[in-house]
Amino acid sequence: MFNLLSALSMALVGSAAAFAPAPINVNRAAVAPMNMAVAEGEFYIDQNRRNLMNLILVGSAAVTVGGLAVPYILFFVPPGTGGGAGGTPAKDALGNEIFAKEYLASKKPGDHSLAQGLKGDATYLIVKDDGTLENYGLNAVCTHLGCVVPWSAANNKFMCPCHGSQYAPTGAVVRGPAPLPLALAHLDVDESGKIVFSTWSETDFRTDGKPWWI
Ligand code: FES
Repeated sequence: MFNLLSALSMALVGSAAAFAPAPINVNRAAVAPMNMAVAEGEFYIDQNRRNLMNLILVGSAAVTVGGLAVPYILFFVPPGTGGGAGGTPAKDALGNEIFAKEYLASKKPGDHSLAQGLKGDATYLIVKDDGTLENYGLNAVCTHLGCVVPWSAANNKFMCPCHGSQYAPTGAVVRGPAPLPLALAHLDVDESGKIVFSTWSETDFRTDGKPWWI
């Protein structure tokens, strides 16, 4: 009986040993330094790489933030004159800049002629009775529904052909349905003699109110 049990247990141990992983001869003294070297190689990042990675990180963040921030900020910046500090040059129908001296030499007092003004809008240049230029230009776009309003010298008014609005020589409304006066722009002559427009952002002298166009 005892022999049978011994034989059985020896057989079980033998079969279990058959499924056990084969022993590996590990030279721990040799492996330990190698593992440390791998660990150092994997996880140690020298200062130059860190700086480079920081630079890439900061650079990409700056590009992303800048790309979002610039349009956001520009949204709140009032529209400029489009011509830098000197304003936007007035241009004739051919796109040529207009010089005050030559222009006035070709026009009579009381002349109201159109030029390209701010943002390319048709804008009246007004020659006063003394032969000089009015210090403002008048946007020719009717404030009712946007027709270009001709000057009527015979009536001394701007008269819109579309729905009958009329404006005084200053651009003030004298008859509706136009709800607002013609937009103003500053008119100056720069040092080179060019006529330039710039945004009129002060009080509208015709209504004593804020300019409606800005
Ligand atoms: S567009 Fe000028 S009156 Fe209507």
